[in-house]
Amino acid sequence: MDPRSEVLLRQAELFQGSVLLAGLPADDLLGKLPNAHGWCWHAGDQAVLDARFEGRCHFGVNVPEQAFETAVLFVPKARDLTDYVLNALASRLAGRELYLVGEKRSGIEAAAKQLSPFGKPRKVDSARHCQLWLVTVENAPQAVTLESMAQRYKVDLEDGPLTVVSLPGVFSHGRLDRGSALLLQHLDKLPSGEVLDFGCGAGVLGAAVKRRYPHNNVTLLDVDAFATASSRLTLAANGLEGEVLTGDGIDAAPMGLSTILSNPPFHVGVHTDYLATENLLRKARQHLKNGGELRLVANAFLRYQPLIEEHLGVCAVKAQGQGFRVYRAKREKK
Ligand SMILES: C[S@@+](CC[C@H](N)C(=O)[O-])C[C@H]1O[C@@H](n2cnc3c(N)ncnc32)[C@H](O)[C@@H]1O
Repeated sequence: MDPRSEVLLRQAELFQGSVLLAGLPADDLLGKLPNAHGWCWHAGDQAVLDARFEGRCHFGVNVPEQAFETAVLFVPKARDLTDYVLNALASRLAGRELYLVGEKRSGIEAAAKQLSPFGKPRKVDSARHCQLWLVTVENAPQAVTLESMAQRYKVDLEDGPLTVVSLPGVFSHGRLDRGSALLLQHLDKLPSGEVLDFGCGAGVLGAAVKRRYPHNNVTLLDVDAFATASSRLTLAANGLEGEVLTGDGIDAAPMGLSTILSNPPFHVGVHTDYLATENLLRKARQHLKNGGELRLVANAFLRYQPLIEEHLGVCAVKAQGQGFRVYRAKREKK
């Protein structure tokens, strides 16, 4: 059981009614709180929750329409995502209780201050290196639209400026990542056919490739529903078409690809992100057709080259700079 769920269960009498658990972990909490429902935006967690508690967890970027008497937000990493979800919950909870739970190391005390616009926050419990906070919603806000919280910026590419639209919580929100910038300078001579942008975030790589190679079909895949919503907005902002999939890892990607393009997930200490990248490198071969190419950018200190050579084929460093490397490997016939 996730320690944040354990803290909620220490106060289980507070959560016996119809409570909405927003951003909940993929553990057994729904099994312990029979009238609770979940709201999830991570496709991997959703798959686990749906398999165990069918129909009890809503997936997506919008608060479920179904009524709820109280809500708990499991504090996400990004402050502006916390703002968006708190606003969505508080707008539906006039006069009722809104809770926030999180680990101390993930900044729960700072996040608790984000409850202040709705009333006077107070700490309910502190255990398992986590805290549980509560506010009675005296000032229920108007619900803001997610799009109103989007940030737009332009990236100058060889074929003109590309507009990127990023939503709260999305990787490198509001600015271009340096690794992605390096990869964008090295998109030449991609094989034609089906392209996958793996871990698409706001969709900058997929959109750039679709514009440069309009005859290619581009699929953009990310595990996070806010990322795929951003990618759709980015494609639309540039008048481009692409298939956008919310799914967990390379297993969710189509087969027969000519190119896999990625700035893959990597976060120190977040095990699942590394696993997603390792799986991508191990399984890229299955998803590429013969002669298909993996082109990815990564921090230079990450030892991806041997793994790519073991599972796919000869891997060249196509470019490097500012601590990043662009790798290029073709699927060879074995
Ligand atoms: C380093 S970011 C790159 C984002 C974007 N391509 C860019 O260049 O700005 C990696 C992305 O991988 C996504 N990701 C993490 N785990 C994933 C998984 N299991 N399956 C698919 N995408 C995942 C993250 O949500 C994040 O958007």
